[in-house]
Amino acid sequence: MRLEGAVALVTGGAHRLGRAIALNLAARGARVLITYRTAHREARLTLSDLQASGARAEAFRLDVANAREVQRVFAQIARKIGRLDILVNNAAVFQRTPFARLTERDWDLHLDTNLKGAFLCALSASRLMQARGGKIINIADWAGERPYRDYLPYCVSKAGVIALTKSLAKELAPSIQVVAVAPGPILPPQDFTPAQRRRAIQRVPLKRWGSPEDIANAVVFAIEGTDFMTGSTIFVDGGQLIA
Ligand SMILES: NC(=O)c1ccc[n+]([C@@H]2O[C@H](COP(=O)([O-])OP(=O)(O)OC[C@H]3O[C@@H](n4cnc5c(N)ncnc54)[C@H](OP(=O)(O)O)[C@@H]3O)[C@@H](O)[C@H]2O)c1
Repeated sequence: MRLEGAVALVTGGAHRLGRAIALNLAARGARVLITYRTAHREARLTLSDLQASGARAEAFRLDVANAREVQRVFAQIARKIGRLDILVNNAAVFQRTPFARLTERDWDLHLDTNLKGAFLCALSASRLMQARGGKIINIADWAGERPYRDYLPYCVSKAGVIALTKSLAKELAPSIQVVAVAPGPILPPQDFTPAQRRRAIQRVPLKRWGSPEDIANAVVFAIEGTDFMTGSTIFVDGGQLIA
């Protein structure tokens, strides 16, 4: 699929990885819609950077875990733009939840945002894509394949995202292709100390953090590089999965 002239929606596109993905899709000629939940200021900045690059762009406030809000935003897109070619399910939460203190709330927060949110957006997007076909890219995590400790609900939610990718790929073939991109360490959470940053890459074969560009490039590849890939997960993890 060509990005030139396509309409792409990136959830959680105001900052960090989502912003890099949005800017890269726009640089290749897509009209880019971003969603934000709390990051109004960052969304405004990204929107003006997208527009300054010559792209048509819009921002929508959206809690992806809320089915009614998802329906409202996709109805707005249908009314205002009339089509959607690409969905990037990027929005997620990532909180440390040590097993001894784990609660139902931790489970619900991660599963509702990371898995149900991706499902709800894919469901609405697929209805907008049905006539012309499209691509759905789910941002997973290498930990969805090999969980680490202290993040059980997060790891389970990302394993769910990989399973969701396979199931959607079957349900939506042949007109819509669904691919997951599974990052390794790319951007540390904002509250990570320098020691935590160092520890996080000790076991990564490539011995460094990746960059948001690495993920944006993989997303671009899943869209433009081939139309003969669906249900797959692309690991962009510095080799962490094989460590
Ligand atoms: N950073 C990494 O190294 C890394 C590694 C592996 C996987 N990943 C995955 O890559 C993606 C992006 O990572 P990141 O570190 O850039 O993510 P992030 O900063 O933790 O979060 C991305 C966005 O998700 C949005 N969000 C959270 N809850 C939401 C909700 N209920 N409804 C709508 N939006 C919501 C936030 O929007 P607001 O700020 O507007 O509230 C935030 O901007 C995520 O799926 C993450 O799991 C990242």
